[in-house]
Amino acid sequence: MLLNIPELLSADTVRTLRESLAHARWSDGRDSAGSQARQVKNNQQLAHDDAIALQVRQAVLAAMERSTLLLTAALPKRVFTPRVNRYSGTANQYGPHVDNAIRTLAQPGPQLGQRVRTDISCTVFLSDPDRYEGGELCITDTFGEQRIKLPAGDAVIYPGTSVHQVLPVTRGERLACFFWIESLVRSDEQRRLLFDMDMALLSLRTQHGESPQTTALTSTYHNLLRLWADT
Ligand code: NI
Repeated sequence: MLLNIPELLSADTVRTLRESLAHARWSDGRDSAGSQARQVKNNQQLAHDDAIALQVRQAVLAAMERSTLLLTAALPKRVFTPRVNRYSGTANQYGPHVDNAIRTLAQPGPQLGQRVRTDISCTVFLSDPDRYEGGELCITDTFGEQRIKLPAGDAVIYPGTSVHQVLPVTRGERLACFFWIESLVRSDEQRRLLFDMDMALLSLRTQHGESPQTTALTSTYHNLLRLWADT
């Protein structure tokens, strides 16, 4: 399932993060790529222990915890340390690749070294689309090819299984934060069913209030989640 999450970050938060990022010390993005991805990756990113990366990471993770839409769609179990990247100048694209299935958590603390299965990929756009040319995130999956370029603060989630790329940025600078989610529900298809059911229930409640039928359907939702979730 490919889903846009509008305004994951507020305009104020995006502005504050971009002010910090103006002073960031970027490193070669190839450092963290697997062997196939390394051949096509040409961008810059911040080190995991960079203070500005930490600031972006905290803002994004806090926003994720507040986003009912994202939580409902992703049903997160673990989140891989969000990274910040930059496409500009000669380091301006990331060719077609698929992300490694398993990543190892890098942030200091009790979770250090823990493995995360990359069920879902998430990109949070930090640059306004009119500030750069190109830089579309192209995702190829059962739904065909989608070209994504969203307003600053918006996010997109898509299956980690998808082949994807970032097209060359030919003018300006594209800043983004990206991370992976291991979901309680491994199957994209099952997550989709749960998401659709949850959204339909939300709409039913909004229109008609609580009823024995919404209670029964909520029960079915939770029983399916109980059946499919791996905690
Ligand atoms: Ni990728």
